[in-house]
Amino acid sequence: MKKIVVLVSGGGTNLQALIDAQNRGELRGGKITCVISSRADAYALKRARKNDIPTRVVPRKDYPDNASYSKALHEALFQEYADLIVLAGFMTILDKRIIQAYKNRIINVHPSLIPSFCGDGFYGLHVHEKVLQRGVKLTGATVHFVTEICDGGPIILQKAVEVRNDDTPEILQRRVMEEAEWKLLPEAVSLFCEGRLTVCDGRAYIDYKEVSK
Ligand code: GAR
Repeated sequence: MKKIVVLVSGGGTNLQALIDAQNRGELRGGKITCVISSRADAYALKRARKNDIPTRVVPRKDYPDNASYSKALHEALFQEYADLIVLAGFMTILDKRIIQAYKNRIINVHPSLIPSFCGDGFYGLHVHEKVLQRGVKLTGATVHFVTEICDGGPIILQKAVEVRNDDTPEILQRRVMEEAEWKLLPEAVSLFCEGRLTVCDGRAYIDYKEVSK
């Protein structure tokens, strides 16, 4: 069983999707062993505690910059023996210390079809605001490995979601979560934990061969 450590900062609906998948026995080959939050007041922590998942808080506000924060976070991840790190609405950019130490072992969920509407400043509700401003008819979600390029790592899974005329950012965010994020993230985590993902020349490949259980 791979040890999955989930990093959160807010509401934690993607964490909930992982917990639900685990409780249904659908998180194949892995177990959520710890949830680490960058904020003490994140609702995601309540979701973890309700499911008896150990939690830690490494508050972003206690550190002057990303480098010192990443050092503290790295220590926590090391102590938790993390095999896989999942960024589930984690709103801090990791520095290269962690990214290099966990190469191809950090997965992020992003609420758009990368390479559209991603990179610096594109996070949370802002992404959906920009999508609506631009008037695209399709958006979606992407799960990808994390590299030093913000939202630029190898893409594991993507799913398109329709944009409707009367959408608000909040309505669109909810549809993208329901139709894409909450499905893609547990699937990508399972594929990783089953050893069915490889990365070559900046691209992620899924092994669709039948795996022995
Ligand atoms: C999700 O939509 C996630 O894709 C996004 O923040 C939201 C967190 O919601 N992440 C990013 O924008 C990262 N660039 P949640 O806390 O309910 O899972």
